[in-house]
Amino acid sequence: MSLENQLLKWYLINKRDLPWRKNKDPYSVWISEIILQQTRVSKGIQYYKKFMERFPNIEKLSTSKESHVLKVWQGLGYYNRAINLHKTSKEIINNFDGKFPSTYRELIKFKGIGDYTASAISSICFDEFNPVVDGNVMRFLTRYNGINEPIDSKKTQNKVKEIGKRLIVKTNSPGDFNQAMMEFGALICTPFPDCDLCILSSKCVAHKKNIVEKLPFKLKKKKVKERFLNYIVLIDPKNKTLIEKRIKKDIWFKLNQFPLIETNYKVDNINKVSSFNKFIESQKILIKTNTFSKYNIKHVLSHQVLYISFYIFKTENDIPLGVDLFGLSNYSFPVPINNFINKKLF
Ligand code: ADE
Repeated sequence: MSLENQLLKWYLINKRDLPWRKNKDPYSVWISEIILQQTRVSKGIQYYKKFMERFPNIEKLSTSKESHVLKVWQGLGYYNRAINLHKTSKEIINNFDGKFPSTYRELIKFKGIGDYTASAISSICFDEFNPVVDGNVMRFLTRYNGINEPIDSKKTQNKVKEIGKRLIVKTNSPGDFNQAMMEFGALICTPFPDCDLCILSSKCVAHKKNIVEKLPFKLKKKKVKERFLNYIVLIDPKNKTLIEKRIKKDIWFKLNQFPLIETNYKVDNINKVSSFNKFIESQKILIKTNTFSKYNIKHVLSHQVLYISFYIFKTENDIPLGVDLFGLSNYSFPVPINNFINKKLF
C-alpha cells in the first residue's frame, strides 16, 4: 500500500476524539489551529473549550473586548495569537461580510495566519491540497525519507514541503491526510519513539540507518537571553495596589503587571536602585518602614530566562490610581505574576 494510504488508514482507526474534529466549521478549526501552533494538544483542549464557550462564533469574538479575549488566553503564552485572532475576526466581519475566506491565498494574508495555519484550514474545511508541515510532520518526514540536513534551513524546509505536496495530491481527502501526518508525528514518530510499534518502520530510511533519534536537527543553537525583572507590589491602607499594562512590543504585550524596574543585573537591595527611588518619588509614595518582603522565582520561556523578584511594600498613604488587591483576578497577568498573586503573600 502507498504511504499516503497507509497513513490515512491508520488515522481513521487511531485518531483522537478531539473537540475540534466534530465538524468542519472554519471558525472552530481556525481557533483550534491557532491554539495548537505553540501548545500541546492535551493543554490546548481545555483552552479550546473555554474559548468556544466564551466566543462561540466569529460575531461574538469580533464584538468582544480585547482584554476579555486576553483573559481567556491567560496561561497559554504567545499572547499575540489572541490579539491577532480578535483583530482578524473584526476584519472578516467587516470586509468579508462575516463569511470565512475559503482559500489559502486569502487566509495567508491575515495577521497570525502563516503557511501552516492557512494550509490546515484550507485543507480541513475547504478540501484544498496544501500540505501542512508543523513540527510533528517535519520530524516524521525527515526520518521517513532520511533527510539528514538541518531543518532550520529554508532549503530543507522547501524539500520537506515538496514531499508533502507530492503525497497530498495523490489522496482524495487532503484535510484527513494532513491531520493523519500530524497525528502520526504526535503519537508514533515522537522525539523518542518506539519503532517496534510503528507500521512504517520497515520503509523508514532513518530506521534502516539507525539515525532515528538524531533526526531532525537544527544547525543554529537558540540564543537564550537572561532578564532581571523587579516588580514593586505596593499595598496601601485600603488594600489597593498599583498595576500597569505592558505597552511595549515585548513578551506579554498588553497583559498587566505590577510596576516594573528592569535591571541588567541581579538586584541585592532595591533601595539602591536609582530608578526604584525615582519611581517612589514620582508616585509620591510614603513607604512604611519594616514592611518590606521579597519573593523570588525563576521563569523559563523559549528564548528567555527570567529572574523575577516581587518586592512587597506597605504604604503610609493612599494610592490614588490603585486597584483592589483582592480583585486582581479580573485582569490578565502573565503566568509567573498570576502564580505570585495566587500565593496571597500580602
Ligand atoms: N496539531 C495541530 N493541528 C493539529 C490537528 N488538526 N490534528 C492533530 N494535531 C495537530
